[in-house]
Amino acid sequence: MADIFKRLQENMGPLGHYHKEAHGYFTFPKLEGEISNRMVFRGKKLLIWSLNNYLGLANLPEVRKADADSAKEYGLALPMGARMMSGNSDNHELLEKNLAEFVHKEDCFLLNYGYQGVVSIIDALVGRHDVIVYDAEAHACIIDGVRLHAGKRFVYSHNDIESLEKQLGHAQKVIEQTGGGILVITEGVFGMSGNQGKLKEIVDLKKKFEFRLLVDDAHGFGTMGKTGAGTGEQQGVQNGIDLYFSTFAKSIALIGAFVAGEKPVIDYLRYNMRSQIFAKSLPMPIVVSALKRLELLKNEPQHKEKLWTIVNALQKGLVNAGFNIGTTTTPVTPVILNGTVEEATYLTLDLRENFNIFCSIVVYPVVPKGVILLRLIPTAAHTLEDVEETIAAFTEVQKRLKAGKYAGKSQIAQVADL
Ligand SMILES: Cc1ncc(COP(=O)(O)O)c(C=O)c1O
Repeated sequence: MADIFKRLQENMGPLGHYHKEAHGYFTFPKLEGEISNRMVFRGKKLLIWSLNNYLGLANLPEVRKADADSAKEYGLALPMGARMMSGNSDNHELLEKNLAEFVHKEDCFLLNYGYQGVVSIIDALVGRHDVIVYDAEAHACIIDGVRLHAGKRFVYSHNDIESLEKQLGHAQKVIEQTGGGILVITEGVFGMSGNQGKLKEIVDLKKKFEFRLLVDDAHGFGTMGKTGAGTGEQQGVQNGIDLYFSTFAKSIALIGAFVAGEKPVIDYLRYNMRSQIFAKSLPMPIVVSALKRLELLKNEPQHKEKLWTIVNALQKGLVNAGFNIGTTTTPVTPVILNGTVEEATYLTLDLRENFNIFCSIVVYPVVPKGVILLRLIPTAAHTLEDVEETIAAFTEVQKRLKAGKYAGKSQIAQVADL
């Protein structure tokens, strides 16, 4: 017999393993002050590249005013209860109507959170006779939704259409036996690599196989496509996406999410998504503030234009300086270096303490052993000077890494003493 609590204290999990040394610095850091390109970390102002505030809306005066006014008018409690029971309002329905219009879909359903929403959409859509086919690099919410599925699932190699076709072939054989259907799931923009999902090629496969397509466009909504309607719009296949999902947590800098598609399917989700039926409705200030942000997305293209000015300058500058930024075609900007986890730790420390730059760092086991991935999220709140400063700092840090300056030191232990 084992005591569960004792066991988990002995093995804190892959991320929890370093919690004592890392907490407050590498994990759970506190970024203080107003959300902007420069924020305070441990008492010092740093240049921040790790917030998904793509369009820079989070701290715009008119957004802050809308947030404050709506909180004052409605309070944070209203409406009480789940949408279905007592938590519906005209504003919730108006936001759904406006979002549906913005992403060129018939109807839309609001969700309290993106992660829970995706899990619950998948759970509501498929039964045990159905088959899910999904991208190998899909976000945790997709993986966890798939884990709830009682039927068969097949995973295809990331963005590999040949592999997808092969898996669709397997799926086809299964449904010929079960009488079920096929659901394909991908992301519009993959949040680590910045790769776009190959939506056009996937939609083309509908000529050969019968399936429905769910796209999680968390990073594409507001950033991609002519009007910001997302990666489907960018690739000219928004109509081929049967269910379009995005969170509010990125471009519109809020909390909540939505799913959009044909009215009968959205109605089905309204009445069958357990994460919404059994949970309190989104607070009114969130809904009213989301309406304000959506208005800005629609009417002020300058935010997306500014974002792309920064994206292009950063990505071109990094490539010109000799950095490997992988295969990104979106704002997500990975900088791929070679080194150990210890070197990555020391390098991050150097960037934060000596160059005043804060970015996310990804190491093994999320990326292969020996790879250090620095992940930069450019936003409309950044400046071209920020870009120059960062490329100069990265150039110096890479020089130090190549010269072995970060080698052989387990700096993680020293962080606590900084
Ligand atoms: C691709 C993707 N899907 C879903 C989510 C989850 O959204 P939320 O933060 O609203 O739970 C995220 C992260 O925020 C994401 O990157």
